[in-house]
Amino acid sequence: MFVSKNLNINTKNHLTIGGCDTVALAEKYGTPLYVMDEDLIRENCRLYRDSIDRFYNGNGLVLYANKAFCSLAMCRIINEESLGMDVVSGGELYTALKAGFPAEKIYFHGNNKTPDELEMALKHRVGRIVVDHFSELELLNQLASKTGQVADILFRIKPGIDAHTHSYVMTGQIDSKFGVALETGEAFEIIRKAHEMEHVRVVGVHCHIGSQIFDLKPFEQAANVMMQFIAEVKEKLGFTIEELNLGGGYGIQYTPGDHPIAYDKYMEAVSRVVKESAEKHSVALPKILMEPGRSIAAPAGITLYTIGAVKEIPNVRKYVSVDGGMCDNPRYILYESEYDFQLANKAGDPKTEVVTIAGRCCESGDLLGKDISLQKAQSGDLLAVLATGAYNYSMASHYNRIPNPAVVMIKNGTDRLVVRRESYDDLIKNDLI
Ligand code: LLP
Repeated sequence: MFVSKNLNINTKNHLTIGGCDTVALAEKYGTPLYVMDEDLIRENCRLYRDSIDRFYNGNGLVLYANKAFCSLAMCRIINEESLGMDVVSGGELYTALKAGFPAEKIYFHGNNKTPDELEMALKHRVGRIVVDHFSELELLNQLASKTGQVADILFRIKPGIDAHTHSYVMTGQIDSKFGVALETGEAFEIIRKAHEMEHVRVVGVHCHIGSQIFDLKPFEQAANVMMQFIAEVKEKLGFTIEELNLGGGYGIQYTPGDHPIAYDKYMEAVSRVVKESAEKHSVALPKILMEPGRSIAAPAGITLYTIGAVKEIPNVRKYVSVDGGMCDNPRYILYESEYDFQLANKAGDPKTEVVTIAGRCCESGDLLGKDISLQKAQSGDLLAVLATGAYNYSMASHYNRIPNPAVVMIKNGTDRLVVRRESYDDLIKNDLI
């Protein structure tokens, strides 16, 4: 009935998440409020992990892409589920390490890592650094030589695959700020160069073709292209690439019109391609890494808002305003993203209205959805926006000096606070007069 399977309606006609009444959660913690279902996060982790065991003899590792939703509690959960982690900044790395996440299971990404971040990664001996371009390679080799280390690296490669998704989240094509291209020979050249360096060891290659993708084909194509490249490196340079990291990007259901692929299908499809290609080119089977972010976190989360002003402009539209907006969910203003909306205190009522959900920021484009269908809304009702567990909290801002909401985690039907609501004092804590 809802886009996420952890949601239901109780006898009070209230929306529940992981068995908890959302109206009671809003009363207890206030709104806006992010609510995450830990049981579903763990289930999603296991689906990916098991798919590697089933289709690839366990010769791989799932890395959770921490940018989707990063907090101490999340890092701990991911560790308990035996996943590795993709981090993309010093801040994400710091959070993971503070949560006790094992450094050797961390892959450090980023198209423009700073020298400080590279030094931090070396100091903590993160498992792999995913090198993006020539100048980063030089810098890393230099920094590692200072400490006498040999850094295990992967290269971010643009495989030249069009992933058919929003242009802002397409990353595999040649015109992208990420990585080095195959077509131009740059990818081969950087590996040749690195192979001669003393303080880096080329362990693998990585590609990430985009996000919110609903099609297996581009993943299969990427796996195929990357395997050909691995074979070329073996043939021309005589050494074996041990790891093939195929990135993340698996689509999820935001609205009833989205039809995502079952999570285990990705591994089933790419492992077939990789095995066939390895045999064809007589290269060893690489360890496969996959990096889901959205598909682990997004379906597990919802955001709760209290409805304030309801404005009907005759023959134009009806605006329903909430106590949050682009500051806690910038995805509409960035991508015109679509969501499933429910009145959490009238969850079983039919959706009889078409309304536009307005945020509270001083910005006309600050909407959460335009012309969406909803139960009849009044001031004081509780609005739930579904599947907001990824790229909402992690992309929140302080525009208009609005404090960030709290995050509550549900486990076995019990709620606990995992991120405190920001206070006005938090907002000025770094200000000097
Ligand atoms: N690996 C790499 C190298 C990535 O750049 C990303 C996402 C992922 C893995 C995880 O992709 P996922 O499984 O979550 O699709 N802010 C956008 C999404 C940006 C994704 C950036 N990179 C959004 O809200 O839709």
